[in-house]
Amino acid sequence: MSGTAYDVLIIGSGAAGLTAALALAETKRVLVLAKGDLHSGSTAWAQGGIAAVLDAGDTFENHIRDTMVAGAGLNRRETVEFVIENAPRSIERLIELGVPFNREGKDLHLTREGGHSHRRIVHVADATGWAVQAALLKAAEDNPNITLLPGRACIDLVTGRHGERFSGNGRVWGAYALNEVTGKVEKHLARATVLASGGAGRVYQFSTAPRGATGDGIAMAWRAGCRVSNMEMMQFHPTCLYNLEVKNFLVTEAVRGEGGRLYNPVTGERYMEKYDPERMELAPRDIVARANDDQIKRYGLDYVHLDISHQPPEFVREHFPTIYEKLLGLGIDMTKGPIPVVPAQHYTCGGVLIGLDARTDLPGLWAAGECTESGLHGANRLASNSLLECFVFGEAAAKDILECWDELSDPPATKDWDESRVTDSDEEVVIKQNWTEIRRFMWNYVGIVRTTKRLERAAHRIKLLTNEVDDYYGHFRVTTDLIELRNLLQSAELIVKSALARHESRGLHFTLDYPETLDQARDTVLVP
Ligand code: FAD
Ligand code: SIN
Repeated sequence: MSGTAYDVLIIGSGAAGLTAALALAETKRVLVLAKGDLHSGSTAWAQGGIAAVLDAGDTFENHIRDTMVAGAGLNRRETVEFVIENAPRSIERLIELGVPFNREGKDLHLTREGGHSHRRIVHVADATGWAVQAALLKAAEDNPNITLLPGRACIDLVTGRHGERFSGNGRVWGAYALNEVTGKVEKHLARATVLASGGAGRVYQFSTAPRGATGDGIAMAWRAGCRVSNMEMMQFHPTCLYNLEVKNFLVTEAVRGEGGRLYNPVTGERYMEKYDPERMELAPRDIVARANDDQIKRYGLDYVHLDISHQPPEFVREHFPTIYEKLLGLGIDMTKGPIPVVPAQHYTCGGVLIGLDARTDLPGLWAAGECTESGLHGANRLASNSLLECFVFGEAAAKDILECWDELSDPPATKDWDESRVTDSDEEVVIKQNWTEIRRFMWNYVGIVRTTKRLERAAHRIKLLTNEVDDYYGHFRVTTDLIELRNLLQSAELIVKSALARHESRGLHFTLDYPETLDQARDTVLVP
């Protein structure tokens, strides 16, 4: 029994956080904090599904190879093996939790996505994430050892620096969090902390990620002293709906997996033939996203066309009910004609560096899911490998914490949040202006195709804004918007620094100044 109210603090209530919570709660008292509501992360938005070798004709080696081909050789093989070999067990556990995966007779129905040489994606129609999030949340709500506190925006990790007597070490003891209802900053202490706070997609103007994907965990860990790696590897999804009102609706890659084709709306050309004649629309995501971007820029288009209307209408409605309904509401009938699509930021491949035990550089801090760089994705994530990583590393974090529990001591006396020198902001417009500015220049200067000059321009803007935001942060009471702005800026800095450090093009990092791929794949590791 520890002296704090909870044994373990988990930051994030998505697939990674709740998986860890459920595994820990057999013996530990777990507190889960979430910014906004409990299903506000990317997990609930996942469409396509979860990759796992479940078909007799498929092998782990196939899945490993596909993952490493997509990742352009930057993956760490031992991580890839670890995750892929644990995938079938993760799916079993989700079935036990009641996730109603689609079936074909008694077997699970397996769909296909880009970069996969076999059908191996289990799914719940085209709304897999919603079903997974609901099942995990239900299990967590039913568990008396888990307390779920939504509406808590963590600001920073509590470390040795915050001890009443400075201990000088980076041991993590929990986090300071803004209660979004009362406006007060709370201190949540625990013997172990798990960061499961998702990605940083919202650093880009166009992103499929939810509003809260502002890189908070990555920035908090970096400020506390963790290394981060491969932050330049930002994944762009090739097919986000182009619509003037609905800005970030994904059209799942499974549409291409089930036969969808890409066309230039002006010339009518099925252009993937030119970019990847063998794999066509099922080439890995970086290749298809670059092809779409190239067509749009070359022909001055607003969008390209994704067309699956050659398949029987019943087939389309059955496989993609959510997308079909959503598009119909916008006046697009995907059974009859093409869908206008554009590339948009989709996934953060880089993040807090972790090992197979989900440990970070700091004692007392574990991390799992999209906020991490585990070595699974390398230079480009293979479709539907992300939820899988959340389950496997959520479990790994829990296992390691339980194994070393007796070595983890209770938190010492630590300082409360000090608000004595700040006042309420009278200039909220500053936050809005800076949010918009960051997201614009990141899209324009640090997007799908990069140059050193554009990256340097972005670095210059980041430096100016950092001075402004630091000054603002030092004078005014924190709000969720301010916390997010600070973290977006920090994430942008890490992305640009990493991009400038990579003198080659590999996977998602494509620069006109270094178009070649070097013989040896090296991680970009930033040290605080
Ligand atoms: P998330 O699910 O994003 O959860 C993050 C949690 O952290 C949230 O609870 C949030 O509130 C909390 N949080 C964040 N900041 C703070 C803070 N400061 N304080 C407190 N709490 C905080 N992957 C697949 O494998 N298959 C798919 O089909 C698929 N489809 C996708 C479709 C879309 C539209 C998107 C955007 C992503 C998709 N992905 C897919 C990727 C996948 O959904 C995510 O990578 C994965 O869900 C991330 O899970 P997570 O637990 O790491 O974080
Ligand atoms: C999709 O359904 O296209 C997204 C799958 C993923 O991001 O893995």
